Amino acid sequence: MAEPVIRVENLTKIYRSRRRGDIVAVDNVSFNIYKNEVVGLLGPNGAGKTTIIKSICTILRPTSGEIWVDGADAIKNPRAALEKVTAVLEGNRNIYWRLTVKDNLEFFAGLQGQSLRSVQSHIDELIETFGLKEKIHEQARALSRGMQQKLAVACALVKRTPILLLDEPTLGLDVETSYELRWILKRMAERGERTILLSSHDMNVVQDICERVIIINHGKIVVDDRIENLQKLFSASAYRFEIAGHLSPSQEQKLTEQFDLIKINADGQHTVIEAELLDSQKVYEIIDVLKENGCRLESVGKQYPDLEEIFLRIVKGEKQ
Ligand SMILES: Nc1ncnc2c1ncn2[C@@H]1O[C@H](COP(=O)(O)OP(=O)(O)OP(=O)(O)O)[C@@H](O)[C@H]1O
Ligand SMILES: [Mg+2]
Repeated sequence: MAEPVIRVENLTKIYRSRRRGDIVAVDNVSFNIYKNEVVGLLGPNGAGKTTIIKSICTILRPTSGEIWVDGADAIKNPRAALEKVTAVLEGNRNIYWRLTVKDNLEFFAGLQGQSLRSVQSHIDELIETFGLKEKIHEQARALSRGMQQKLAVACALVKRTPILLLDEPTLGLDVETSYELRWILKRMAERGERTILLSSHDMNVVQDICERVIIINHGKIVVDDRIENLQKLFSASAYRFEIAGHLSPSQEQKLTEQFDLIKINADGQHTVIEAELLDSQKVYEIIDVLKENGCRLESVGKQYPDLEEIFLRIVKGEKQ
């Protein structure tokens, strides 16, 4: 297999604090990310996501472990590593508040040693894509929070480094802007132009954009797998029954009493029953109960849980 583009080995970060004692934020974490992969980093608050991202982009010095980015040693030679990596961190502090949108983009393009003329069309394209056209002469500090976030991502892209790190890129954005940014990232991911590691609390963002997910909890990796594999693993016991019409309250009660972990939702002309059936024999039992009650079964199938459900179950310690 090809050399990984990001290689993290036995990364540990301990924050030393006299008042609060030592905090092990990242605990012996190892993972590889290969060329043009788009990987999501998920985990509850305080899991260690930002610490991992900051370590890779050389802002933080790990307590121990190794980090390599595109062949450069990020700990021993951060300067070389910084030529390979761009990061957009929380609070988008990577942009200059007093520079205009255009000047910011030109500045970051110039940082890469590219002549302005050669990058002008890329800058124009980014201004267009990110909907910043009307704001090009505004100072970054005068933009709305969502616009600043988009500018921060655009400035990261204009640098054309092979690796892009995004810490919570859609945090605090309104629904529309979040969708827009997701769409931009998704297209970028599909074009396979960069290797991307992105952290997010928004499972939809990760499910939409990433092919693989690393879930961390208390500074340790609990899962590192392709999203489709996780869905298969967690779908093994989840079933979905669709029946015509609605259940009476007593039928509903009977089902909930007889079967654990059942969800019943009626909409329009149908009722959907989702059940967690660890014993597949139970599938037939549910069908029997439904028939006895005169329900017309329209479909039975495996249910593919969404990433949010998978995440909650992993973090709560199931399937481990
Ligand atoms: N500068 C610091 N000094 C001391 N402790 C810190 C520092 N930064 C982070 N921590 C602690 O390290 C742990 C991991 O924090 P980190 O910010 O990496 O988590 P996160 O997964 O990014 O969380 P969130 O989802 O809230 O952004 C937490 O317990 C946090 O309190
Ligand atoms: Mg964080």
